[in-house]
Amino acid sequence: MSHILVTGGAGFIGGNFVLNWLSNADADGVINVDKLTYAGNRRTLAPVEGDPRHVFSQTDICDRAALDRLFAAYEPRAVVHFAAESHVDRSIRAPADFIQTNIIGTFTLLEAARTYWNGLDGDAKAAFRFLHVSTDEVFGSLGPTDSRFSETSPYTPNSPYSASKAASDHLVRAYYHTYGLPVLTTNCSNSYGPYHFPEKLIPLMITNALSGKPLPLYGDGRNVRDWLYVEDHCSAIREVLARGRLGETYNVGGGNEKSNLEVVHALCDLLDWLKPKDSGSYRDQITFVKDRPGHDRRYAIDTSKLERELGWKPAKTFETGLCKTVQWYLDNQAWVQDVMSGEYRNWVAKQYAA
Ligand code: NAD
Ligand code: DAU
Repeated sequence: MSHILVTGGAGFIGGNFVLNWLSNADADGVINVDKLTYAGNRRTLAPVEGDPRHVFSQTDICDRAALDRLFAAYEPRAVVHFAAESHVDRSIRAPADFIQTNIIGTFTLLEAARTYWNGLDGDAKAAFRFLHVSTDEVFGSLGPTDSRFSETSPYTPNSPYSASKAASDHLVRAYYHTYGLPVLTTNCSNSYGPYHFPEKLIPLMITNALSGKPLPLYGDGRNVRDWLYVEDHCSAIREVLARGRLGETYNVGGGNEKSNLEVVHALCDLLDWLKPKDSGSYRDQITFVKDRPGHDRRYAIDTSKLERELGWKPAKTFETGLCKTVQWYLDNQAWVQDVMSGEYRNWVAKQYAA
């Protein structure tokens, strides 16, 4: 059986990608390489446990010997690299893991892929792809009237997270130009949807709202993000993997610029409709708290290259995606309770102490 090797496939986007990929009966098998940090959850993969096309390996991408064994055993035709430390607030409190996984881990994976790819020949060598999943945060922060990020926007990362992702993007680029490794990079905006770990804005607000806790908005709540439903992020990655031009980067986004306050209001209104409180609105729980240090003001992404070259468009509007997401959290409280472990509770206690 032909395989792709996916890293970080027990996390939010990687998990959704694996489930979407294997929902196609004709799809290649998946070697799912994940260290299972606090953000990785086997429970997300429950629908594909027992599927012979899914092989899970609890492996750190910094472990070169283990990666070499996986490449040799399964001879993947492609790598789709999601594994990362992904939460900006954690990168501010404790950046070391971000340097280790996002930079050293990506370097180690690139080296393993390069060695493997060098050993291929003919069609297998020509067909091999290394797709690096990255973020719009590498481009820094926009003012209210600035043009959206394009693929040629300068890199100006502002947090340890975005700086570590920028470093990984540069390494991927260098492996194409120096060694000819057939790489592709996607830089996507804020994704949301099922299986999103409740430390990030949307799932945190839903879970706090349902448990009667404050809804903590940083600063004035007017920072702007572009939101994309996770299945649309996954479909963009599949398109770029299948037909992207080697060595190119593709911006991915939803065309949904919203302030955090607008997002939280929309969530509260959906919850008021789907699970009304005995009295009052979930909006009453909104609380303004101390701002995130170095908080990027605005992200906005120009996706015209991806649309023009590969014909990609998101399938979901913000309204339909958000409604589906809230309903998913209401229907999947067992998953939520499972991931809100002791580690999660420690994080919340530290981050929102004041
Ligand atoms: P996540 O934190 O939910 O999942 C990360 C996964 O990587 C987890 O399963 C974790 O166990 C695994 N992992 C971490 N360190 C590892 C290591 N050393 N070895 C192997 N596995 C390891 O992250 P996410 O939100 O799903 O993001 C996935 C990727 O997409 C990241 O590279 C991120 O930078 C990028 N991205 C995320 C967003 C977003 O909105 N969430 C947007 C654009 C790009
Ligand atoms: O833009 C893509 C990036 O989006 C990804 O690369 C990151 O991996 C992903 O985590 C996300 O980063 P953000 O920092 O934008 O996402 P987060 O959900 O942490 O925050 C979204 C916005 O909400 C941001 O302006 C900070 C604000 N926020 C967040 C939290 C957790 C709050 O106001 N209160 C909160 O409690």
